[in-house]
Amino acid sequence: MGFHQVWQLLPLLGLAAAAPAAMTTIHLCGDSTMAKGGGGSGSGSEGWGEYLKYSFGSDYVIHNAAIGGRSARSFTREGRFTEVANVVKAGDWVVIEFGHNDGGSLSTDNGRTDCPGEGAETCQTTYNGVQETVLTYPAYYKNAAKLFLDKGAKVILNSPTPNNICESGTCVNDVSRFDYYAWHAAAELNNPNVYHVPHKQYAVQAMKNLGASTVTANYPKDHTHTGPYMANVMAGTFVLGLKCGTTALGQAAKNTTASLTSTFYGACIPQNSTVPI
Ligand SMILES: *[C@@H]1O[C@H](CO)[C@@H](O)[C@H](O)[C@H]1NC(C)=O
Ligand SMILES: *[C@@H]1O[C@H](CO)[C@@H](O)[C@H](O)[C@H]1NC(C)=O
Repeated sequence: MGFHQVWQLLPLLGLAAAAPAAMTTIHLCGDSTMAKGGGGSGSGSEGWGEYLKYSFGSDYVIHNAAIGGRSARSFTREGRFTEVANVVKAGDWVVIEFGHNDGGSLSTDNGRTDCPGEGAETCQTTYNGVQETVLTYPAYYKNAAKLFLDKGAKVILNSPTPNNICESGTCVNDVSRFDYYAWHAAAELNNPNVYHVPHKQYAVQAMKNLGASTVTANYPKDHTHTGPYMANVMAGTFVLGLKCGTTALGQAAKNTTASLTSTFYGACIPQNSTVPI
């Protein structure tokens, strides 16, 4: 066989495709609890998005676009969802998780507070001298999800992690309207490529099982920002939420479900089957 013939065989052997195997990117949109550097340099804190890579093989890349101080509203106004959508490839995953900065009152507008409500309600405000129509948290979630669905991505709409629920010395429950809103946004989109991970519920379960002293020792700055250990726990609670569901992303995670449920992470938590997880 001459050189020419060998060359023609290469595609059959799959060798001509010398380009690396297609990488799937997991894009993360969120606030400081997810972001690189957590609550700021020198704070000793870190965001959980920085630990997600340890659960995936080399065919997955994490693009942590989370940034401190942001809400679903300010991430939208600043064009950050659009920036992520500009680099999303078909087949990628986008995880959206907000709530820590979305509350408060619009009467002294900090640029982050969402319009109250779960639907198409709007609020008028002036922020930084600019007139702004403010939408609800579910509306921002849904608009962002549509940007990514249009690019052929799959979208996971998370509830936010809690603050340190153990700071009193006893770990207590934490339920906020944003937990429901995140689920509700996913339910309303009613799209097979949209999922909901109840990250809050898995985080609360793990924190209770870890106990107050371990948890509180790993909030070095304040009751919002995790140190590295708790950031890794928060990544693990998200991965367990995935593993307990049906997504291809959950199946791709390297951790087995048992490797998590046999520890302080605890069991899979039953979910309302209206929205796939
Ligand atoms: C998941 O698996 C990875 C790879 O073995 C490991 O680095 C990581 O710590 C695991 N995560 C949890 C939460 O156990
Ligand atoms: C899921 O939630 C929706 C909306 O709250 C409700 O109508 C439905 O009955 C729930 N389904 C289950 C199985 O709990």
